[in-house]
Amino acid sequence: MTLDLYKYVASIPDYPEKGIIFRDILPLMADGEAYKQATDELSDYAKDKQVDMVVGPEARGFIVGCPIARELGVGFAPARKKGKLPRKAISASYNLEYGTATLQMEADSIKPGQRVLVVDDLLATGGTISATIEMVEKMGGIVVGCAFLIELKDLHGREKIKDYDMKALMEF
Ligand code: PRP
Ligand code: ADE
Repeated sequence: MTLDLYKYVASIPDYPEKGIIFRDILPLMADGEAYKQATDELSDYAKDKQVDMVVGPEARGFIVGCPIARELGVGFAPARKKGKLPRKAISASYNLEYGTATLQMEADSIKPGQRVLVVDDLLATGGTISATIEMVEKMGGIVVGCAFLIELKDLHGREKIKDYDMKALMEF
């Protein structure tokens, strides 16, 4: 049976700021079948892309990206919030729907020529995913696709990554 994944996303008005509707994926993760269906569908999207590595930004990109990496039988490289990586790191800064931030990746976490799937729970303005792509490409990786559970259409993040193939399972 195929589940309606929309039923597993909670919508919280005015969080974390007035005017933002926060789309919360915790109910989806809390349900084993829904979590499996969602990550399987995104793995299916990537199956024919000869992916070598999955990359996901902290924190919710880990939750979605790691099961996909495991399903594809490839490694996972995290893009972490600034100041968490003990070895040599590269950085990229970006604007969020609410606030600004810097992400970092270990400088050798992607090898030149590796085919990379970039994964996150949600595409909003596209700042997070663009910063992640910037670091992957700085290391010589080839971004072969971007995969999300949710796309927030009004924020037009898709335009920021229009040069890349992308898949989102749900739209709000
Ligand atoms: C959220 C979400 C995406 C990002 C999307 O992460 O998980 O990574 O915002 O927004 P954007 O497309 O406008 O960049 P957040 O920075 O809130 O961090 P978290 O995953 O640690 O909660
Ligand atoms: N990240 C950026 N915007 C968001 C939203 N509206 N809901 C959940 N995560 C987000």
